[in-house]
Parts: sequence; structure tokens; C-alpha cells
Amino acid sequence: MRRIHTFSAMVLFVTLFLIFFYSTLHLETTYSHRPEPEDPLKHASLQDHDSDVKTETSKPESLTRPHPDVHNVSVSDGLRQTIPQNQAYWNRLLYLALRNLDKGKNPLRLNSHWSRCREMNQELLQTNVHDFTSYPVLFQDFVQGMNCRSAPELINQPNKCILREGEGTNQTFLLFAIKSTPGNFERRQAVRETWGREGMYQRGLRVRTVFLLGNSPLDDPDLSPLLSFEAKHFGDLLQWDFQDSLLNLTLKMNMFLQWTLKHCPHVSFVFSGDDDVFVNTPALLSYLQSLTASKASQLYVGHVISTANPLRDPNIKYYIPLSFYDGPYPAYAGGGGFLISGVLLQPLYSVSHVIPFFPIDDVYIGMCAKALGVSPEAHEGFQTFDVKEHDRGNLCVHKDLILIHQRSPPQVKRLWKGIHSPFLTC
Ligand SMILES: *[C@@H]1O[C@H](CO)[C@@H](O)[C@H](O)[C@H]1NC(C)=O
Ligand SMILES: *[C@@H]1O[C@H](CO)[C@@H](O)[C@H](O)[C@H]1NC(C)=O
Repeated sequence: MRRIHTFSAMVLFVTLFLIFFYSTLHLETTYSHRPEPEDPLKHASLQDHDSDVKTETSKPESLTRPHPDVHNVSVSDGLRQTIPQNQAYWNRLLYLALRNLDKGKNPLRLNSHWSRCREMNQELLQTNVHDFTSYPVLFQDFVQGMNCRSAPELINQPNKCILREGEGTNQTFLLFAIKSTPGNFERRQAVRETWGREGMYQRGLRVRTVFLLGNSPLDDPDLSPLLSFEAKHFGDLLQWDFQDSLLNLTLKMNMFLQWTLKHCPHVSFVFSGDDDVFVNTPALLSYLQSLTASKASQLYVGHVISTANPLRDPNIKYYIPLSFYDGPYPAYAGGGGFLISGVLLQPLYSVSHVIPFFPIDDVYIGMCAKALGVSPEAHEGFQTFDVKEHDRGNLCVHKDLILIHQRSPPQVKRLWKGIHSPFLTC
């Protein structure tokens, strides 16, 4: 009797197990056939039959669907001349994307939907990058997330560039886009009180400011109540749900481009920079006003680094493994602070869908600009590596400059007061 009981219990158990097993199988298959959620930023696949980069298979129809955000992408020969075609992973990805573009295929990437973009598995990466496991952990993390090009928004300012009561014109002349991190309250406040103050400047030029934030690591104290207070009070925070880290700055830049095209599309110029620089806003505005129309429409200016190569020491912040990228960097404007024309934002954003993400944001902008055939222009007023030691206290030196890296919040306040002092004779 007891045996029969045990036996039937076992049969019941096995049946239940089989039912469960088949139902999960079914879930698996229905999941993989489920149409992807409709997302305007969905990217098509990098899959290419004559390619030397192995990718996961994807649905063929996504190759032909036109992308709403990408207009007439074409890539200048200059980019192909600067960046060699070789065995490094990024270089292969670039040339694969260029071949697809030449064939008229949608240039976008596989698995780019935020919830699925990190599915690129370790095995696949190890097949493509022989020494992948020797990369620093953060770099491995970057490579795994390279297809993640659009993060969910946490704090937005959809009305930032919309005309408010009593404001004469809608046009934002200059938008300060300042890379910050959640904890940098003091730096942001120093910027607001000084060079990043929003409002109407000389000759009715409207200046607006946004701070670009990712999210703090999960183990860090939760700053979100403070940030939402700050965002309400000042109306100048933009935050997205990705980890704010050095290697995610390209993602941050891309989110900012998306945001600006949507919420501030008519801006004349954008200043992109760090939250620990000093900017001489009146000098900056005078410079922008002095530009001819043709120059203003192609503006990409700052401290230009024209002959840089990747740094190969793994202990350096900007380390780039040889098997990841092999070649020189195109000329680029240092990310501490540079200016770009508003009309270049859409072309930059469009072409960024062809150029794989690169872990260094200012180099990445240089690559995208190169792809557009736009060269960065050097301006003496941008000192992203700071001025000579003995000039650091000299207000007259600062009065003639546009940007100086790097200054603490009290220094920023002192400099700002100083260059505006009526007693300053230079
Ligand atoms: C300013 O822009 C907003 C939204 O883009 C628009 O609704 C409004 O009509 C514009 N106002 C003027 C004066 O152009
Ligand atoms: C970038 O952000 C994503 C999303 O939060 C995170 O998973 C990833 O680790 C970050 N990458 C790096 C290199 O910090």
C-alpha cells in the first residue's frame, strides 16, 4: 500500500515537473518570437554574412526598416583615412557598419533596446576579442554595454527651452550642457551662481543651463530626494538611469543629444563641459557673436588635441586595449569644455548610429565630427589643461580666456567676482 502511494506520488511529481518544464520551454520560444516593443530608438542588426565579427542572429526585417531618427547618413572619406581597417574589435565593428551603410542597410545596432542591450554574452565577446578576459573589469563592462545607447529618463526639463511669460524671443542662443554627477551639489551651485547663470545677457542673448547626470551606484547613499528637490527648485537637472561613470560618458553625451533634439532643437550653440571648469561667459558670448554665419554653422571649437594616440598602460584612466582599438584618434576638442553649433547636433546624432560607441566621450565626438567632415578648430581661449602655474592667480589672464580647467567651487566664485570687478585694470 505504502509503495503504491510512493509510486503515485512520484508519478504525480514527474508529471508536474514535465508540465512545468514544457511550459517554460514554451515561454522561451514565445519570448524569442515575440515582436520587439516598438521603440523609435531600436537599432537593427550588425549581422552581415561576409563579416568577420560574429553576432547573434536577428530578424531580417529589422535590417530594412528605415529609422525615424536617422536622416541621410553618409560618412566622409576622412574617417576611413584616419581610422585603419584592422583586426581590433572596434575597428571591425566600424567597418562592418560602414559596409552595411554602403549597401544601404539601416546602420543601427543589435539588441539596443535598453532592457536587452546587455545580452551580448561573454562567450560571444571572447570569440571576437581573444584577450577579452584580460581587460580591466570596467572596460569589460563597457564593451558588454556598447549597444546600450538609450537609457530611461529619471529627471527631465521638457520646458527648458520653451518661451516663458515676458520673454521676448524663443531662441536659446547658448545652452550650457554640464557633465555632473549626482553628488556634486556644491559644484553645480557654484556654476549656477557664476558662469552658468541662466538669463538674458548682452544684446538679448538667451543663455540656458542643464546639468547632465547619471545614477549613483546602488551601494551609495540614495540622493534621489535631494536631486528631485534640486531639480524642482532650479529646473536645470537632467538625469538618466545609467551608472554615472567615466566609461559611460559617451552614453551621457548621446542622451544629451537626444534630449536637445527633442526639447531644445533651435538652440544656436551648445557648450559641453565639466562641472569643475571656469568659463568666462561674457567672453564666450562675444566670441560667438563675432562669428560669420558660415563659420557659426560649422562650429566645433575648443582646445584641440590633434595627434593623440590611445594610451596603452592599463593603470591609466583612459586606457584602451590594443585588441579593442588600433589606430590614432582623429583630432578632437578636449571634453573639459568645447563649443558646437546647434545645427550640427542632428547630423552628429544621426551619424552616431553608424559609429560604435567609444569609451572616451570627447574622442567619440571627434570621430563623429570627422565622419561628418567637420574638423575641430583650436582656440587659444580654451585651456582644458589649465594655464601656467604662475598665472593661476592672475585675473587679467583669466579675463582674456574663455575656459580654464580645473577650479574648485570657491575658486570659481572668486574668479567670477574678480573678472567683473570695476576696479580691475588689465
Ligand atoms: C515658442 O516655442 C513654443 C514651443 O516650441 C511654441 O509653442 C511657441 O508658440 C513659441 N513662441 C514663439 C513666440 O515663437
Ligand atoms: C554604464 O551604465 C550601465 C547601466 O547602469 C551599467 O550597467 C554599466 O555597468 C555602466 N558601465 C560602466 C563602464 O560603468
